[in-house]
Amino acid sequence: MFFNLSLDQSSMESPKNLIIVIFGASGDLTSRKLLPAIFSLNIQKLLPAKYAIVGIGRTKLSNEDFRTKTSEAIVLYSEEKVTDQNLVSEFVKNTYYHSMDSSSADDYTELKTLLKEIDSKYQIGGNYIFYMATPPSLYESITINLAISGLCKEEEGFRRIIIEKPFGYDLESGRKLNSTLHELISEDQIFRIDHYLGKETVQNLLVTRFANGIFEPLWNRNYVHRIEITSAENMGVGERGGYYDSAGALRDMVQNHMLQMVGLTAMEPPSSLDADAIRNEVLKVFQSFQPIKEEDVPLQVIRGQYTPSLIRGECVTGYRYEKGVLPTSRTETYVAIKFFINNWRWGGVPFYMRTGKRLPTRVTEIVVHFKQTPHHLFQREAGKISSNQLIIRIQPDEGILLKFDMKEPGAGFKVTNVNMDFHYRDLANTRVPAAYDRLLHDVMLGDGTLFSRDDEVETAWKFLEPIQKAWANNKAIKVFGYPAGTWGPEFANDLIEGEGLTWRYPCKNLADEELYCEL
Ligand code: BG6
Repeated sequence: MFFNLSLDQSSMESPKNLIIVIFGASGDLTSRKLLPAIFSLNIQKLLPAKYAIVGIGRTKLSNEDFRTKTSEAIVLYSEEKVTDQNLVSEFVKNTYYHSMDSSSADDYTELKTLLKEIDSKYQIGGNYIFYMATPPSLYESITINLAISGLCKEEEGFRRIIIEKPFGYDLESGRKLNSTLHELISEDQIFRIDHYLGKETVQNLLVTRFANGIFEPLWNRNYVHRIEITSAENMGVGERGGYYDSAGALRDMVQNHMLQMVGLTAMEPPSSLDADAIRNEVLKVFQSFQPIKEEDVPLQVIRGQYTPSLIRGECVTGYRYEKGVLPTSRTETYVAIKFFINNWRWGGVPFYMRTGKRLPTRVTEIVVHFKQTPHHLFQREAGKISSNQLIIRIQPDEGILLKFDMKEPGAGFKVTNVNMDFHYRDLANTRVPAAYDRLLHDVMLGDGTLFSRDDEVETAWKFLEPIQKAWANNKAIKVFGYPAGTWGPEFANDLIEGEGLTWRYPCKNLADEELYCEL
């Protein structure tokens, strides 16, 4: 199952009949991601024979209103080309809407009755999935209310809860959230979505490493010089300023997506493809992080915030001018971290990760830089060093690139660096499935492999705790301004160990001019 490029139903177990209850049904996540993903599963014939979707929100809507909204969302956001409107009309017949206050325990009696009615109408057999597409502040109260009303009890069928990151705000709140959930439901009923794990190329990391005999023998401190993981976005915070200003890049991207990519890149081979076998290995990586001391944070972590600039003649606003952001905000929109993994495989190998908004392009990639040859036999251009790199492009243009040296044809031994390049788009008849399709389908099947487990989440917070503390306690630690459209603060280059070495820059800076750059 782990190895399919598309969600090919021929090799898939079919989920049991079920009801998906979406809290926060009138929100952006529901219309942009969830409803289109469920529709796409329907087109791929991956939904069970009988299913219903119940949207929950405070807004008063009729079933008909919700069905109209669902159709619109599918047409606008679905990755499936909707050529036959009948398919949408048939699909929305299975959607329902229920207006209630999800923080009020009293409102759950009616919900329970409604679910019972739908259950018997469709002969569901008691299998319910509750998706919390709500602000995280509601996760605990919704789970408590579901538990009080008996909706979490797995008597007839399964009861599963999906939550979206952030899973807490720091180590303490992350632990508290886990312990509240555990008092009410068991860990295997909880599915913590990290949509990066739903990305085909992230899963392919395991296949690249463990299905090929050629990479794994080199995948260690003897041959690897350093590893770089980048997740760059060219967009700003857009309409999400209010949320982002209290999160920042460390909580928004590093605690989850970036660390999961580190985990899969650095882990030992799992004993099987069983959910816990894989998550145990990721956890071991997290447990082996060399703790960053609070006093070393300025040396190992660089944070930045985008400032206004001119890109191709157009003014691009700075972070502090975005809607919902404090004009004096010190929230980081960029973070770069140098760290080590203290184990036999990686001892002494520097790992670098960086992520940021308003960088020159959108790219997520993992770059494995191999060590140089022990003796340089061939002449190269001044300043050029040999570099074998394996670049795993997570997005866009998903694929794998191997850089190696070859002889330039002609007299002498002039060496040049060339590419061996695989693009997913070159595979015939393949569509890279959207992350939410895959993840929702896995929840329906009860497969937790691609979801963050409680101990992984807490260990990730533990690693980041000194950074959070240093930033909170030491106001002298700078937030570097970087003009929108550039690769972040130049100081981030100082993190990279080795003369003349820098981050890999997949493209150039875009900013023509800095309009204001003081923080
Ligand atoms: C989300 C973050 O989890 O991931 C966003 O909250 C970020 O801030 C997004 O933009 C990036 O996801 P992707 O799939 O576009 O790389």
